[in-house]
Amino acid sequence: MYTAPHLVLVGPMGAGKSSLGRRLSQTYGLTFVDLDREIEIRAGAEIPTIFACEGEAGFRRREAEALADVLTRTPCVIATGGGAVLDPHNRDLMRQHGFVVYLQIDVDEQLARLANDHSRPLLAGTDRVDVLAKLADERRPLYAEIADLTFSPTGMGAAEAAERLAGLLVDREHRQGFPRYFPDPI
Ligand code: S3P
Repeated sequence: MYTAPHLVLVGPMGAGKSSLGRRLSQTYGLTFVDLDREIEIRAGAEIPTIFACEGEAGFRRREAEALADVLTRTPCVIATGGGAVLDPHNRDLMRQHGFVVYLQIDVDEQLARLANDHSRPLLAGTDRVDVLAKLADERRPLYAEIADLTFSPTGMGAAEAAERLAGLLVDREHRQGFPRYFPDPI
């Protein structure tokens, strides 16, 4: 029997992975997993606390464990954290078990979308532009390396982005017969 891959959303902070993922999962009747939330539940602590107590290395270890575990479940829509692609083993697992969608936005768009957000430890300093630009340089090739599909949600709200992405996925299925995990949209 054909088993569909997970739909894995990757991309930088503020790209809308969680809001888009939640909407897509509803459209297609799949379970939604927000990997950051999954890490928090498993740790019994919020991400800033994990960073404060264990450093980024501790967070990355937890992220890798949570990702590996989620990927063993029945197919779902997974919103990963922006840095989940850093670990080569994570990238292998995502490629192997998922259809990977890269949500691509540039640093200006990130700054606008994250202007009122103070929850992300990596953006706690005053030099947001520099940090985001450096992360983008480092991570862009990694997102691209594992992406089955790249989609730019720039200028769109979550509803429009989800609708357009769903349309692209259906096109892709029709043309290539893959990922073929979607029942008819509700
Ligand atoms: C991170 C992104 C965050 C979260 C953590 C680290 C990163 O997730 O995993 O703060 O390294 O880019 P979002 O991409 O959902 O903001």
